[in-house]
Amino acid sequence: MQYRRFGRTNWQVSEIGYGMWGMAGWKGSSDDESRVSLQHAVNMGCNFFDTAWGYGAGHSESLLGDLIRNNPDKKLYTATKMPPKNFTWPSRREFTLDECFPPDHIEEYVHSSLRNAGLESFDLMQFHVWEDSWLDDDRWSKKMTALKDQGLFQAIGISLNRWEPWNGVRAVKTGLIDAVQVIYNIFDQNPEDELFPACAEHDVAVIARVPFDEGTLSGIVTRDSTWPEGDWRNTYFVPENLNAAVDHAEAVFPLIPAGMGKAEFALRFILHNKDVSTIIPGMRKLHHVESNCAASDGVMLSDELLAELKHHRWDRTPTSWSQ
Ligand SMILES: NC(=O)c1ccc[n+]([C@@H]2O[C@H](COP(=O)([O-])OP(=O)(O)OC[C@H]3O[C@@H](n4cnc5c(N)ncnc54)[C@H](OP(=O)(O)O)[C@@H]3O)[C@@H](O)[C@H]2O)c1
Repeated sequence: MQYRRFGRTNWQVSEIGYGMWGMAGWKGSSDDESRVSLQHAVNMGCNFFDTAWGYGAGHSESLLGDLIRNNPDKKLYTATKMPPKNFTWPSRREFTLDECFPPDHIEEYVHSSLRNAGLESFDLMQFHVWEDSWLDDDRWSKKMTALKDQGLFQAIGISLNRWEPWNGVRAVKTGLIDAVQVIYNIFDQNPEDELFPACAEHDVAVIARVPFDEGTLSGIVTRDSTWPEGDWRNTYFVPENLNAAVDHAEAVFPLIPAGMGKAEFALRFILHNKDVSTIIPGMRKLHHVESNCAASDGVMLSDELLAELKHHRWDRTPTSWSQ
């Protein structure tokens, strides 16, 4: 496992981190399998874990707390997220700070997440939705500074809404946040336009999420995929999205060098970008942990291939189903 500097925090985080949504929100999860997978990731050198209050109303946070206690001799970085007060993902332009993150709500959920995990402090506390317009009201930053000063977390982050990398650029430029979490993968290359240069200039860490486009780029989502009732992917992979995303993925797959897997290829594309501090693939299965962590071996794609992948950029805008 290779490590990268996490922006101005100076933490050394593993290039491959761990996305902990699926294990507490998607159907077909088993805590026993998740625990084994999490520990295996630690054993392979993974030291950055992304969870949220919203992942099973604290369940994912409790799994992370157990992992920390089971590895007292290792520094593992813990990142969680506060849910918006109106529990609506993503936020919309008309949502106010009072509807989403009034100061008393921020304080309540920081303490709630700490209780769920059984920890005294998180490394990174993130806003689970974000609107740059909230910068006009300094109550959120004053509350976050006060809670940080109490030692309840060490750094502040924002997690940007799907396909809105522009809606966080102002926040990065204020110097008020230490990290930004954004969708970045072979399709969603648009954070490179404005967001990444701003992060580099202001020494803000980048967490690249959804590296596999929720599974189309890793090849586990096909035109025939179905999910159990209640699995959120039924509402995300509506036919319009499923068919288009699989079409785009099938156009990428012939480029994969012989002997390289689809997921490995998707991760190597992201690893090539030095503005990225860590990638957080969602993974529950042990063999996924094994292959994803192994992708951090310093081997890069050729310049010709990277140039070709630029043509597979797919700019999308939020829709009624994109969430
Ligand atoms: N608003 C937000 O802040 C927000 C939104 C979405 C996601 N996130 C964070 O980002 C993380 C990653 O996003 P995501 O999990 O939604 O999407 P993702 O990482 O693009 O895809 C996850 C899917 O890929 C599969 N997978 C993982 N490794 C694989 C491999 N080597 N080969 C084939 N398939 C593989 C997983 O299967 P298994 O699960 O069965 O192993 C899962 O079905 C989340 O877990 C969460 O921490 C944050």
